[in-house]
Amino acid sequence: MTDRKPQTMGQQFGRRSWAEPWKIKMVEPIRLISREAREQAIREAGYNTFLLRSEDVYIDLLTDSGTSAMSDRQWAGMMLGDEAYAGSRNFYHLEEAIQTTYGYRYIVPTHQGRGAEHLISQVAIKPGQYVPGNMYFTTTRLHQELAGGIFVDVIIDEAHDPTSEHPFKGNVDLTKLQALIDEVGAENIAYVSLAGTVNMAGGQPVSMENVRALRKLCNNYGIRIFLDATRMAENAFFIQEREPGYQDWTIAQILREFCSYTDGAWMSAKKDNLVNIGGWLAVNDLDIFEKARNLVVVYEGLHTYGGMAGRDMEAVAIGIHEMVEDAHIAARVNQVRYLGELLIAWGIPVVRPIGGHAVFLDARAFYDHLPQDKFPAQTLAAQLYLDSGVRAMERGIVSAGRDPKTGDHRYPKLELVRLTIPRRVYTQAHMDVTAEAVMAVYEDRHNVTGLKMVYEPEYLRFFQARFEPLP
Ligand code: F0G
Repeated sequence: MTDRKPQTMGQQFGRRSWAEPWKIKMVEPIRLISREAREQAIREAGYNTFLLRSEDVYIDLLTDSGTSAMSDRQWAGMMLGDEAYAGSRNFYHLEEAIQTTYGYRYIVPTHQGRGAEHLISQVAIKPGQYVPGNMYFTTTRLHQELAGGIFVDVIIDEAHDPTSEHPFKGNVDLTKLQALIDEVGAENIAYVSLAGTVNMAGGQPVSMENVRALRKLCNNYGIRIFLDATRMAENAFFIQEREPGYQDWTIAQILREFCSYTDGAWMSAKKDNLVNIGGWLAVNDLDIFEKARNLVVVYEGLHTYGGMAGRDMEAVAIGIHEMVEDAHIAARVNQVRYLGELLIAWGIPVVRPIGGHAVFLDARAFYDHLPQDKFPAQTLAAQLYLDSGVRAMERGIVSAGRDPKTGDHRYPKLELVRLTIPRRVYTQAHMDVTAEAVMAVYEDRHNVTGLKMVYEPEYLRFFQARFEPLP
C-alpha cells in the first residue's frame, strides 16, 4: 500500500514553503472604515479595544478565543446535535474524545474555560491556601482568589524577560516551588496550577522534562497538579520541535504523555479545540469529580451539557481530533511565527521566542518614554487600531489589575500588546498587512503621550475600563 499519510511540501522537497492544510469554502467579507470613522470609534470605546464594535474592525487579532473557523466536518457535526436535556449522544462523543486525547477519566462540561476554573477552584481550594502557578492568567487567578486562594508565581525568571531566548519559558522553577513548600507547608498548598504555552508570558511552552520533574517533586508531598489545558496542542508542537527525543512522536502522543503527569485539567475549548463556544473540566480523582459534577448543576447546567448545546459538544469532540493533526498544528504555529519573524527582521521589539498563539509587542521598549502608569500597552493597542483598523489586546498593567490587599496597581514586568491569531481564519496576506501597520505605528512612536484611566470596574478591569488621551 502507498503511504497516504499527509506530508508538507517541506517534508517532500526539503526547501520549499509551507502552506495552510486547508482551502476556503465560505467567506465572510471584512472592510476597513475611514481614518475619521476609526478616530470616532476608538474615542467612543474609551480607547479600549474590548469596547469597539467588531464591525468597525478590519483585521481582528483581539483573541484566538472562540474565533476559530470550524471545518466542514465540524459544521456537519452541528447538524447531528442531540438536543436532549439529559444524556445527549454528543456528550458521550465529547467524553470519549477527551478521554482518548488527553487521557483523563472523568469529564464535566462547562460553557467555557472560566466555568471550569470556577468549579475546580471551589472544589480544590480551602480559604487561606496557596496556589503556586507558572504565571497568572486573569480569569484563572480571579477564580482562585474568589475561592480564598493566594496565587504565587513560580515560573522561571526568564519568562519575565522579553529578550530571553529560553526554549521553554513556561517552565516551573522547582526551586521557587520548593521554597514555598518549605515556607508554608505542603498542607497549605491547594494544588499546583500549571498552564501550557503560558498566555501572559507570550505563549511560551513547558517542557516534558519540567512537567516530569514537577510530578516527582509534588509526589514527595502529595500535592496535586491541575493543568490549564488551553493551548496544550501548541505546547505539544514546541516539545516536538525543540525537546530532544520527541522529534518522532506525534502531537497526539506528546499531548497524552504530558497530561499523564497531571491530575486533571480545565479547558477553554474556544482555543485549540477549534470551536466558538465551550469548555470542560476533566479529573482522575472520583471525589473531586463528584463534587464538581454536583456544583456544575448549580452554576452551568446539567452534568451532561454544562451550558453547551448538544451540537456545540459535537463540534468540540470533532475539533479535539482535528487539533492533534500534525499538519494543522504546524501550520497554525508557523503562521504566528511568520508574522513574528517579519517584525523581528524589521527591528520591532517583540517577546522572543515567538509563542504559539500570538505575537506579543513589547510596549515598554516600543514607547520607552512612557512610564507604566501612562499605560503604554493600552496606548499601543489604540494606536494600532487608529492606524489600520487592526485590533489587538493590552496585556500589561491594566490586565494585571490591583493587589487585593493594598489596592495599588500591580506593576507586571511584562507590558505587552498581543496580536492574537485566530485559527484557520486569516491568510499570510493579512499577516503582511498587520506587520506593515505595526511598522507605521513604530515609526510614529515619539509622537505618542499615553493615556489616563477614567473608569475602572472592580473585576477584570481590562475588559471594561475607559481611558482618555493625555495632552
Ligand atoms: N486559561 C487561559 C490560559 C486562557 O487564555 C483563557 C481565556 C482562559 C483560561 C479562560 O477561558 O475565556 O473560555 O473562559 N483566554 C482568552 C484570551 C479570553 O483572549 O486569551 P474562557
